[in-house]
Amino acid sequence: MTKNYKRTLVTSALPYANGPVHIGHMAGVYIPADIYVRYLRLKGEEVIHIGGSDEHGVPITIRAKKEGVTPQDIVDKYHSIIKKSFKDFGITFDIYSRTSSEIHKETASEFFLKLYNDNQFEEQTSEQYYDEEAQMFLADRYIMGECPHCGNPNAYGDQCESCGTSLSPTDLKNPRSTISGSAPVMRETKHWYLPLDKHESWLRQWILEDHKEWKSNVYGQCKSWLDMGLHPRAVSRDLDWGVPIPLPDAKGKVLYVWFDAPIGYISNTKELLPDSWEKWWKSEDTKLVHFIGKDNIVFHCIVFPAMLKAEGSYILPENVPANEFLNLEGDKISTSRNWAVWLHEYLEDFPGQQDTLRYVLTSNAPETKDNDFTWKDFQARHNNELVAILGNFINRALVLTQKYFDNKVPQIHELTDYDKDTLKEFENIKSSIESYLDTYRFRDALKEAMSLARIGNKYLADTEPWKVAKTDMQRVETILNIALQITANLGIVFEPFLPFSAKKIRTFVNMENLTWNQLGQMNLLPAGHQLNQPELLFAKIEDETIEKQIQKLLDTKKINEGTPEIKVAPQKENIAFDDFTKLDLRVGTVLECTKVAKADKLLQFLIDDGMNQRTIVSGIAAWYKPEELTGKQVCFIANLAPRKLKGIESQGMILSVENADGSLSLIQPSKEVNPGSQIG
Ligand code: MF3
Ligand code: ZN
Repeated sequence: MTKNYKRTLVTSALPYANGPVHIGHMAGVYIPADIYVRYLRLKGEEVIHIGGSDEHGVPITIRAKKEGVTPQDIVDKYHSIIKKSFKDFGITFDIYSRTSSEIHKETASEFFLKLYNDNQFEEQTSEQYYDEEAQMFLADRYIMGECPHCGNPNAYGDQCESCGTSLSPTDLKNPRSTISGSAPVMRETKHWYLPLDKHESWLRQWILEDHKEWKSNVYGQCKSWLDMGLHPRAVSRDLDWGVPIPLPDAKGKVLYVWFDAPIGYISNTKELLPDSWEKWWKSEDTKLVHFIGKDNIVFHCIVFPAMLKAEGSYILPENVPANEFLNLEGDKISTSRNWAVWLHEYLEDFPGQQDTLRYVLTSNAPETKDNDFTWKDFQARHNNELVAILGNFINRALVLTQKYFDNKVPQIHELTDYDKDTLKEFENIKSSIESYLDTYRFRDALKEAMSLARIGNKYLADTEPWKVAKTDMQRVETILNIALQITANLGIVFEPFLPFSAKKIRTFVNMENLTWNQLGQMNLLPAGHQLNQPELLFAKIEDETIEKQIQKLLDTKKINEGTPEIKVAPQKENIAFDDFTKLDLRVGTVLECTKVAKADKLLQFLIDDGMNQRTIVSGIAAWYKPEELTGKQVCFIANLAPRKLKGIESQGMILSVENADGSLSLIQPSKEVNPGSQIG
């Protein structure tokens, strides 16, 4: 179905404002979206690009709790970091706003109310875990317990990170609240559900029949969701961070983050264009395109369209060109393991080299399958392609023009067959790049753009104007005229991909305002046209620089291996208070401490227990020297039945804690007490 669209509304996934952005985000979503909108703008089309931060959801509240600040503090911090990174890398949004804004709250609540009033929701009461101590319902991430599959004692209510199984909180054995540590209880709670099952049949038709042209990774994921059958999905949560449910009986309930976030695209458009936003969202001649990563496919292809359809006045996306994931040096990018190249750090190490990263991430974009970013590949692409081909060609063309023609475009004279062949290669370039860009094949489009630079580079290498200059200046004029026309074309074609360099190129040729429609023309620069002083476009990246980056990652790996995730042992079964009182725990003073012969691990203590002296043997010789313990106070179990260790009767047990690395630390009272004092 090709429709005649008048304008294009492009959205890029709203990143969660709980961390900075890295190369995976860029390669997956923001660079392709930016290429696309720059291309359309350069063609003079009516287009807007909507972005913003996704500022709700449980992970943000967890991060805030961990850092002892409010969720708003967290999102304020990361919203500005993210916004700056996008600006620094030339990602051109018409608006980059945020879902904690007033206009978003308003828009999202109105949207919910419209659906509510139109009976588009189902109300369901279910039992959910509730923390009686903290007096709150627990989001899945706030519940931990033992994984039923692998026994990991620290699985989350939504997933076990050890074995990767997705879970629901009731799957966990011995669940505990991460807020208070207490065991949660089941309590009834009411939520509103979007009955996706009722939308299934039109979704099947719309995606599987009417949008066969969607990328195969997107189409395939949708098909498998649809084939499994859709179910109602809750659009509300019991949480104190988010857009409050605008109903009287909904205290403590907010919109589920995946309900409010995509509405953020609408709110941000409203904020940008208070008077004309509806034309962008509600008129059939608008083409809506969502740029996202693969983990967002179901929300953008199924859930959000169902919301829009249920509302009734909105258009649906024409395409959702989702990418797969980018890995880093063979490993999954991970924020918590710091396994990433962060944009703000990249710019510190490679100032002014945004285009190199844009180039590498586009040539290697995970368009159809997961791909790997490596620093060696980064260096090779920069040095062998940007420096040796694009930069080299442009520099030669400009420097030779400066040398022979005082920076003025020379005349063109008679063309050789070779010239004609070269020019011929430009004839179809515009339509072939366009067909790639129009179908979201940005890697191929960039390859095609690069082939123009390759043609130019080869042309100069083959015609050798620096040699011809000794005999035939008229021929040099023709050669350089052609080379400069190619240069001007490069200033157009690279604008979507390498905007910083393309702008420089247009400045070199003193033609700031070239447009896409001029691409492929070989008379962009009239003879006599004055050029500007040339500069080097790209400098070689040395091995040393790359080794530093690789070292940085190796260090990260070492840190990750050195600090294994601290595992907390599962809580034991509850005991009655009476059971506890059976234990006789006391403090004693160490009178003597000696090594036990033929037992490396054991120390023998003589303890003043307030009434008598008693002997206790303890396995802590690896961590304490006997002499440093004499005179110290320790805690011990006084009524443990005596046991023989290496032939010595131990009358009790000294208490110590086991650290993550297996070492032991003695427990001592924080102030000196009378020997024999009871613990309880
Ligand atoms: N914050 C989500 C993520 O990073 C994306 C939200 S996209 C939107 O995966 F549609 F909800 F806005
Ligand atoms: Zn598990």
